[in-house]
Amino acid sequence: MRNPQLNEKGELQHLLTIEGLPRETLTHILDTATSFVGVTAREVKKVPLLRGKSVFNLFFENSTRTRTTFEIAAKRLSADVINLNIAISSHTKGETLLDTVDNLSAMHADMFVVRHAQSGAPHLIASHVASHLHVVNAGDGRHAHPTQGLLDLYTIRHFKKDFTRLSVAIVGDVLHSRVARSLIHALTIMGTPDIRVIGPMTLIPSGVEKLGVTVYHDLEKGLRDVDVVVMLRLQSERMRGALLPSAQEFFKYYGLTPEKLALAKPDAIVMHPGPLNRGVEIDSAVADGAHAVILSQVTFGIAVRMAVMSILAGN
Ligand code: CP
Repeated sequence: MRNPQLNEKGELQHLLTIEGLPRETLTHILDTATSFVGVTAREVKKVPLLRGKSVFNLFFENSTRTRTTFEIAAKRLSADVINLNIAISSHTKGETLLDTVDNLSAMHADMFVVRHAQSGAPHLIASHVASHLHVVNAGDGRHAHPTQGLLDLYTIRHFKKDFTRLSVAIVGDVLHSRVARSLIHALTIMGTPDIRVIGPMTLIPSGVEKLGVTVYHDLEKGLRDVDVVVMLRLQSERMRGALLPSAQEFFKYYGLTPEKLALAKPDAIVMHPGPLNRGVEIDSAVADGAHAVILSQVTFGIAVRMAVMSILAGN
């Protein structure tokens, strides 16, 4: 069956998930992003690749990093950017998602960047819109956050070079994390041999081993000799009922402190998609310490999103 995000020529028409994408496609996005890192360091930070195109940011769920870096990325590609304010849109009067999309399409939209609490919402839009339009998933429920997965991949490649020699630990609330799912798919496609997920039983999805990861419930065992540590926030907005005794208890067993980080390789990097909950999943001494590359992830996110949008617009 054809991948729904590829067109009949096998080119990327939409970016909905990393799962099932060829390694060449991921490498092409990362290499294109590298060329845009140079652009973002220039005094004049604009290139004309999306001149005359209209990019609509549709964020039905809150965001700081993703929404802002998509806006910056689109502006650096010279697109017109429209940020729909969902809170004062006709969504509040009962307009359906697809009716909203149809009306924005009638305003000559070229690309929709969609964040939604419901898994599958960007996919629904992509299967509905005209064939010249492009949809980018900016995070849907607990399903996928492909541009976060790509910027995480970019950050790991930047600091560690070769995916095929790495041990990567993903720690915390894996159950509710679209970031974890996207990164696991991305690392697997790139040939990473040792991907570990670490967390309490209540926050690790059953059957996650089928994705090619090893499960640890003991943080100290799971962190031993890893190259990369990816910390995850407790996503309480997606939890149904209490899955933990308390945030303090979680920090005691799964919070990343300098002492626990010392079990990883001496040159290990610490990543976090944000937003941070200091003192819950990560100690400030680690979040602000020498191993943290958390703010580099944010900066690389601009170039990665420029790469995704320019590749989609060219197909
Ligand atoms: N990483 C991430 O998705 O952050 P925001 O929710 O702030 O966009």
